[in-house]
Amino acid sequence: MHRDDFNILNTNIIYFDNGATSLKPKCVIDSINKYYEEYPMNAHRGDYNLSMLTSNLYEKSRDKVKEFINAKSSKEIVFTSGATESLNMIINGYFKHALNSNDEVILSKSEHASLILPFMELGVKIKYANLDEDYKLTLDNISQKVTNNTKVIALSHISNVIGDKRDIKSICEFAHKNNILVVVDAAQSLGHTLVDVTDMDIDFLAGSAHKFCGPMGVGILYAKEELMKDIKPVTTGGGVTSSFSEDEIVYKDYPFNLEAGTRNVPGVIALADTIDYINSIGVNTIEEYVSDLRKYLITKLSKLDNLDIYNKDIDGSTIIFNVKGVFAQDTSLYLDKKNICVRSGDHCDKMLHEVTGVKNTVRVSLYFYNTIEECDKLVEVLDNKNILEESLGI
Ligand code: ALA
Repeated sequence: MHRDDFNILNTNIIYFDNGATSLKPKCVIDSINKYYEEYPMNAHRGDYNLSMLTSNLYEKSRDKVKEFINAKSSKEIVFTSGATESLNMIINGYFKHALNSNDEVILSKSEHASLILPFMELGVKIKYANLDEDYKLTLDNISQKVTNNTKVIALSHISNVIGDKRDIKSICEFAHKNNILVVVDAAQSLGHTLVDVTDMDIDFLAGSAHKFCGPMGVGILYAKEELMKDIKPVTTGGGVTSSFSEDEIVYKDYPFNLEAGTRNVPGVIALADTIDYINSIGVNTIEEYVSDLRKYLITKLSKLDNLDIYNKDIDGSTIIFNVKGVFAQDTSLYLDKKNICVRSGDHCDKMLHEVTGVKNTVRVSLYFYNTIEECDKLVEVLDNKNILEESLGI
């Protein structure tokens, strides 16, 4: 779908690394160019027309994000550099001050480094929920780890490797009945499936624009307003205070107290165009298309007897596998020779192998511009007994 919007698809590459980053449509690239050509000013700094235009566009983007995730107020949205920074700000700006040493956080070993590491660095007690036999994380797995000391459940909406979509609404409902807060890493779900923070009753959410056709270096931090007001600045500097003296720092009201220094202004403005673009296709349409494409591909790949596939039945867009007897990176290099881009390795989920027993995998991650023909090509080149030899050039 919509392949004409992506100039890079006129080359002969097959791009199956959408979990790492998505391609950018022309309208998003145009938006960034327009900024630099027509109003390349800082936001919230200048008292002249062009700077005020830039500031207005920047704030319109905040309103657009609010609508996109159905937040109650634009004040619940902070622009960051990406989901990683958002999670670090949530954990170091809020939980560092809210948790004590007996408090427990529930994570799983199927989470991204950017969710696990900041909690590890806090030194709080972490409990890892079990995954079920096909490596999915369920409410049942989580509830088994809850004690009176559990204060946080932190998980991705769609995991970046296994690709299972978690039932965030039920998890939040359960958590809130037990006075637990929920942090959702939506890096792989925004623009891929519907994310409604109000309906799901999410407390904190992190996302990255570049995973859903937006620019790199722009992230979203959402927090319910009553929690947002208690997030302390992790980074401070220009733009976040109304005054300071030798004795006192007076911070601006949220969300501005959390956006220190010059932000990625063109990126934030282009995020609004990204959201318009995704909405013009429709998130549900995208999800359905990708799901059908994945079903098609998994059916075909399952017929190859030289593959071990580890996540046959999931809702997300990923397929992780290994060619029997071939190191994952060698498979990637082989596929690269066929102009197919995939990711291999641990995909930043460095503890997942403790559950799956497999350290490195090849990951195919699909998006709406991928096609049946591309999937057929992948199957065709993987149906080859000499992948190792060809990857090594021997
Ligand atoms: N977290 C990104 C991925 O899954 C980079 O590839």
